[in-house]
Amino acid sequence: MDEVISYIKNNYDNYVEELKEYLRIPSISTLKEHKPDMIKCAKLVADKLKVAGMRKVKIIKTENHPLVYGEWLGAPGKPTVLIYGHYDVQPVDPLELWTNPPFEPTIVGEEIYARGANDNKGQNLVHIKSVEAFFRAGKKPPVNVKFLIEGEEEIGSENLEKFLKTEKKLLKCDAVLISDTSLYAKGIPTISYGLRGLCYMEIEVTGPNRDLHSGSFGGSVANPINELSKIIAKLQDNNGKITIPNFYKDVQKLSKKEKENIKYLKFSDKALAKELKVKELQGEKNYSTLERLWARPTLDCNGIIGGFTGEGAKTVLPSKASAKISMRLVPDQEPKKIAMEFEKYVKAIAPKSVTVKVNALHGGLPVVVPLESKAIQAASNATAKAFGKKTVYTREGGSIPIVVEFVKQLNAPAILMGLGLDTDDIHSPNEHFNLKSFERGILSSAYFFEEYSKI
Ligand code: BES
Ligand code: MN
Repeated sequence: MDEVISYIKNNYDNYVEELKEYLRIPSISTLKEHKPDMIKCAKLVADKLKVAGMRKVKIIKTENHPLVYGEWLGAPGKPTVLIYGHYDVQPVDPLELWTNPPFEPTIVGEEIYARGANDNKGQNLVHIKSVEAFFRAGKKPPVNVKFLIEGEEEIGSENLEKFLKTEKKLLKCDAVLISDTSLYAKGIPTISYGLRGLCYMEIEVTGPNRDLHSGSFGGSVANPINELSKIIAKLQDNNGKITIPNFYKDVQKLSKKEKENIKYLKFSDKALAKELKVKELQGEKNYSTLERLWARPTLDCNGIIGGFTGEGAKTVLPSKASAKISMRLVPDQEPKKIAMEFEKYVKAIAPKSVTVKVNALHGGLPVVVPLESKAIQAASNATAKAFGKKTVYTREGGSIPIVVEFVKQLNAPAILMGLGLDTDDIHSPNEHFNLKSFERGILSSAYFFEEYSKI
């Protein structure tokens, strides 16, 4: 193992160069004009898997963006680890808020800035490089490995979900290893055991058949923006509770052990408020911040569209307004049920003077995995070694909807070995990734294969 670890430490600069090359491809999955970049990026991943010693590397076409697969099964009798990641990234707008162009990776101090640096290129390259290091150091990986890197995570993993259903044999494994979450704090080794789910809705409110002069008509006809705002305001009460009937029906309570863990982590509300430049934090009454983020469902308006938003003033009573609303879900809430309750409630509270349409855009199930599995123990030992500190356990506020499908379809535990930080500005301008975490991540991955082979 020493040879592998020193190989990694000696090649760190090369790894950073490779990460830059990966980050230069604008693989934005949601925008059609980037389709060629998606193909280019899939090819780059496939090449890297080949160079890393993977066999049967293939680019698998789907109805949309390709999947990349590769395997090395040269450790008979040892467990098999499926490593999942995504090469697609989020759009970059608003572009003017980026200090450096999003696809020209720039290093400032310990950070590398680029779209996808954290989410997820930096985090999945870690595992490719760690597997490669075993071969380069004249060794072999101590476990069997399979890689599955997709191009549709940011748009709902629709085609991977289909693939998973038909390719259970190909993907058969003892554990799924994923780095697409966050460290509890910089330098703190972290294993997450839960992700929230998601239910994403759209409300469209229509009033009069055309835009009207707000002087001639204002006060006599319902204004869709006003009515939409009232509907949104009614979705939560003053205690931060969501008012949709049956919304909390399936919510699991935190266990005593989890509550103790939260206490042990000593989260500082003050520090977060300061970092975000807000006077104080806010959320559901009677819950702490970590409880609110990890184990309580939420509702947020992500965007609201309607009326005149140009420069200056225009007096208008718009005909239409709409809003994008997402709800983060926790076990055992189901996005389909929640979407139904949402639609029923929104329609019930809307006045007769407007027409309301509700659309469900997409959803994903929440997941919590048992901490007791051997794979998680091995991962926890590995990150502790790489970071030189005791590993902490967290749940995540974000969602990776495919994880629950892995757990269900492959009947394997998911190990969430996150390396990002919540302050890395993923999905936002100036996304970045800490290069120290990148290095520790490669070490964590290598140690994990060793630890897991010993069980
Ligand atoms: N890497 C994130 C998930 C994440 C974010 C985990 C923050 C932990 C902390 C992932 O790429 C992502 O953005 N997921 C989406 C899912 C959605 C598009 C279905 C999310 O959480 O909004
Ligand atoms: Mn993301």
